[in-house]
Amino acid sequence: MTILQLINERVQAALAAAGAPDAPAVVQPASKPEFGDYQANGVMGAAKALKTNPRALAEQVIAKLDLAGIASKVEIAGPGFINIHLDPAFLAGRAEAALKDAKLGITPPKPQHVMVEYSSPNLAKEMHVGHLRSTIIGDALARVMAFLGHDVVRANHVGDWGTQFGMLTAYLVETQQAGNASLELNDLETFYRNAKIRFDESEEFADRAREYVVKLQGGDQQVLKLWEQFVDVSLEHCEAVYRKLNVGLTREHVRGESSYNDDLPVVVSDLDKAGLLNVDEGAKVVFLEEFRTQEDKPMGVIVQKKDGGYLYTTTDLGAVRYRHKTLGLDRVIYVVDARQSQHFQQLFTICRKAGFAPESMALEHVGFGVMMGDDGKPFKTRTGGTVKLVELLDEAIERAFQLVTEKNPDLSEEERRHIGHVVGIGAVKYADLSKNRMSDYIFNWDTMLSFEGNTAPYLQYAYTRVQSVFRKATDYDANAKIVITEPAEKQLAVALAQFEDTLNAVAEGCYPHYLSQYLYHIATLFSRFYEACPILKAEGEVRQSRLQLAALTAKTLKTGLDLLGIEVLDAM
Ligand code: ARG
Repeated sequence: MTILQLINERVQAALAAAGAPDAPAVVQPASKPEFGDYQANGVMGAAKALKTNPRALAEQVIAKLDLAGIASKVEIAGPGFINIHLDPAFLAGRAEAALKDAKLGITPPKPQHVMVEYSSPNLAKEMHVGHLRSTIIGDALARVMAFLGHDVVRANHVGDWGTQFGMLTAYLVETQQAGNASLELNDLETFYRNAKIRFDESEEFADRAREYVVKLQGGDQQVLKLWEQFVDVSLEHCEAVYRKLNVGLTREHVRGESSYNDDLPVVVSDLDKAGLLNVDEGAKVVFLEEFRTQEDKPMGVIVQKKDGGYLYTTTDLGAVRYRHKTLGLDRVIYVVDARQSQHFQQLFTICRKAGFAPESMALEHVGFGVMMGDDGKPFKTRTGGTVKLVELLDEAIERAFQLVTEKNPDLSEEERRHIGHVVGIGAVKYADLSKNRMSDYIFNWDTMLSFEGNTAPYLQYAYTRVQSVFRKATDYDANAKIVITEPAEKQLAVALAQFEDTLNAVAEGCYPHYLSQYLYHIATLFSRFYEACPILKAEGEVRQSRLQLAALTAKTLKTGLDLLGIEVLDAM
């Protein structure tokens, strides 16, 4: 159990014993050191409900409160706050246990079967900066949930179906005949552009493209083979980006829109059976009372066009059915741009009504804001084009390499290249993951690559600093006892004990920035501790105890950064 859960449980019991069983304990980490380490703020609410004096009730609660072995001091403050000072020996015990355990002493919650769907680019083109946020936020969430002990399915719902693919396949045939297909496919942007030019200029080509769409959907083996070739090349492009980004998506996680092709007619007939379908000007539509048009009429969601074609929503309905029926998931998390919010709210509503997803399967749209350039407008190239993701990442690596070269010219080029990669990629990811995902943020090279402030380089550097202590402390005893006496030691130990609570909060609300903030907090507290409490100059038990706190700091930083998909270095 985490400290927060433990104290909450005890305060809750004390409230019940004092006659307020229904009042929430409202326990949280103290907002200031003078308020102790934790505070319970539930007494005021309880007193109000019971119509009694809050301070008097607080006294009764404290009299019943059993925190033996956990707290060394409990006191009432202000109108009835309860301030809790943790017992240093208790904190030391938690820290020792965390050091001995590969998972830092976390106790897994009831495991859930969770799908995190993320990245999901359209394969017609190369990945661009618009795919960055979903890819790294989703990956961080998948890592945190798996670490907590959940059974995590990563899903890459790639766009690999629809009319564009007829055009691309037709163009592939042409370029293959001309013998330059592999060359053209090197650059999918150009490939797409050239295919579009052909489509627009040649009636005959356009007809062939349309014919291919029909053949594709009808399962024509020959055309499917061509399509597969295209998809394969496109996925290789994605995989190169994932590897560069240290993102754990591979082929096995891909289940594209195409895989639901055969389910689409079933989706429509199931909607019909559920009495949800209407025909409106030839199209099949589900009307939702919950969503209103500007004329205050129920909004219609088209699931099949007049010409028989299916839509984005129809595929998503098929995917939800599959995720429930075949995978039996407890929770499905969609990490997709916030601008698709209405799509998902409508999708989820239809799924509940049609019985595609029972209430026991949570459906969550985890949205995010826009990545902006320095000008405060959506991130673009100087000429206003979309930035290829792979080019952005290469620039990050190159910039970090230049920085490292300035700082550490004596390192070998190979070492500097490696550091440049780890720092550059870390900087791009952390700049994103350190902000509330719902807000837009400005992508700025200088800020994210700075060694000061809440950045990846700062945290990576903090980690290497701790490692350098251990290079000097050759007498370090990994089994030494921890003894906490100084305030800086205690503050660090309290924060280190909050790792699991932090991860729980990340998993619950799908907010990776809670973890970033936490790691930054740990790094800051470690600096203070390092200044106030000499490690290498200390001797005996004190020296060993401080080394242990340093070891747990390093382990927490490394594990936490790894959960954000960011690597650390022993030296930089
Ligand atoms: N391929 C879509 C796009 O690029 C994102 C897919 C999101 N996931 C979903 N299940 N609809 O916009």
